[in-house]
Amino acid sequence: MDLGLSGKHAIVTGGSRGVGKEIALSLAAEGVHVTLTYQGQREKAEEVVGEIQATGRNAHAVKMDLADSTSMQALFQQANAQVGAADILINNAGVWPKGYIKDLTLSDWTDTINKNLTSVFLLSQLFVQQCLDHQKGGKILNITSQAAFHGATTGHAHYAASKAGILGFARSLAREHASDGITVNNLALGIVETDMIRSSLQEKEDYYLSRIPLGRVAQPKEMAEIATFLVSEKANYLTGSTFDATGGMLMR
Ligand SMILES: NC(=O)c1ccc[n+]([C@@H]2O[C@H](COP(=O)([O-])OP(=O)(O)OC[C@H]3O[C@@H](n4cnc5c(N)ncnc54)[C@H](O)[C@@H]3O)[C@@H](O)[C@H]2O)c1
Repeated sequence: MDLGLSGKHAIVTGGSRGVGKEIALSLAAEGVHVTLTYQGQREKAEEVVGEIQATGRNAHAVKMDLADSTSMQALFQQANAQVGAADILINNAGVWPKGYIKDLTLSDWTDTINKNLTSVFLLSQLFVQQCLDHQKGGKILNITSQAAFHGATTGHAHYAASKAGILGFARSLAREHASDGITVNNLALGIVETDMIRSSLQEKEDYYLSRIPLGRVAQPKEMAEIATFLVSEKANYLTGSTFDATGGMLMR
């Protein structure tokens, strides 16, 4: 099936590792030019850029901090200058800090909400403005979590709240800009084997597996393939929706 993605330009936040890296590679395999963001080591981001460039696609890495709106503006300026206006924004980057509610400080709370939710608002706003400026449509996909629906079970209430906040924001955004040809959807993940969760998974593997009817955790690549479809031209009639890729961990 031709997904109709060839020649498009996607911005993937947190594209140097984990789910974001696989989304960047999966999109590139469909002919998409990719701007990926990284926070820490440039080397890892450059490796992904190199892998994509080897396939003949345009790729570059931009440093961006989810807690710094200036770096988000710079991201869009650089992406636009290097590849042109983006067609797709994948809000993938995020944090999963641990802390039970009785112990959480206000700073723990606002830090997580800022990085996981306020960043989605700011990046989406920049993307929408760019679409309007260029009189073109676009697709936004936010990576959220089963925790948005279940709530946290192992001390991540602030994370669960941030991921649930994305849902309400995305529906509003989808409604406000549908007539501009901009679609907005969410992909709720269950347990995916990445750096984010690896040590918790090792500690409590039986607990996590007991919650997943398919009996295994997901690999980042299989999440990326679903994400790629959701921003493809085959998904043009989807907006304001949340898709659950959780191996049955979340059924609703
Ligand atoms: N792994 C899971 O089981 C799981 C489950 C549900 C949802 N998710 C979501 O999937 C997405 C990807 O996570 P992952 O599993 O690949 O984990 P990961 O830790 O490998 O990736 C997170 C990415 O976010 C980036 N990031 C973190 N803090 C940042 C900051 N302050 N500024 C800029 N970038 C920052 C990191 O550099 C990294 O690229 C996240 O939104 C996460 O909440 C993951």
